[in-house]
Amino acid sequence: MATGEQADIVVVGGINTDFLVQGPRLPGPGDNVRGHLFLESLGGKGADGAVGAARLGARVALVGRVGMDPRGLALLEQLEGEGVDIGAVARDPSALTGVVLEMVDEAGRKQTLASPGANLCMRVADVMQAEERISAASVLLVDLEVPMDVVSAAVHHARAAGTRVVLDPAPAMSLPEDLLEAVHVIRPNAEEAEALTGVEVRDRGSARQAAENLLRRGVGGVVVASPDGSLVLTSEGELWLPDLSVERADTTGAGDAFCAALAVALTEGKSLAQAARFAHEASALATMRLGALGGLPTREQVESRLALLGPAGLSAEASPL
Ligand code: RIB
Repeated sequence: MATGEQADIVVVGGINTDFLVQGPRLPGPGDNVRGHLFLESLGGKGADGAVGAARLGARVALVGRVGMDPRGLALLEQLEGEGVDIGAVARDPSALTGVVLEMVDEAGRKQTLASPGANLCMRVADVMQAEERISAASVLLVDLEVPMDVVSAAVHHARAAGTRVVLDPAPAMSLPEDLLEAVHVIRPNAEEAEALTGVEVRDRGSARQAAENLLRRGVGGVVVASPDGSLVLTSEGELWLPDLSVERADTTGAGDAFCAALAVALTEGKSLAQAARFAHEASALATMRLGALGGLPTREQVESRLALLGPAGLSAEASPL
């Protein structure tokens, strides 16, 4: 989309360069393991979410910050190439663009070390400059790779303007109660759900406990990703989406793909249950390729999988969501 055009979805979040090495196993402390594949790509939960939503057909604007280094400028070009409006991405002369080092083994397990750089130099003023965009959008998608006062300003502005808020509470941390009360849908993975609620999420039952805790604290709808499936909970009922059997290469970016697809489907007027089914497919597809960006699926890819499976193939248990 062109810079300044009205966006359906505004994303506020992290922008990084991801350096990924895949090897036979993950190194332990002091180990030196020879890997066999290297990937450098655009990353960061904000950038991944924005590109994910754009590939699914939404008009997306990103609010974030990169350095004035060559990596930052290259990331901006790439975002534009993906159709994301970067008019509200600040260029910081005194910070380096965020970097994430990812190590992935052959089973898809990973380790991540991040240097957030310019992401943590974001200011509330960056959000204030994007207030009109946020007010005019249908959904605000936000993650926790940027300072908490920035997250809070974006969420509260969106809430007041009637823009729905989807929160990807990553990386894992606890959150202020007033922030949770302003969120329409939150989508933690197991580790993030535990940081938010203290509940160790191992299965459907514990995912429900964590989701109930978040609902009681004022969140409108909760999607908890557990090791064997995703649980969707609202005050109207529960939906269980069992893990889809796909050939997994790397789970990096699966949560970003889920949140992006959820935001797109909500923008299109789908219910949370319908949106979560769509996002569940997008997220499964995202795990089939190495790296966050490479795996983000297109609309055609998600729809052809949904068409192949048909409504029964999703094997979701609904009651009465
Ligand atoms: O969720 C995946 C993303 O998290 C990666 O792109 C990496 O940059 C980290 O922010």
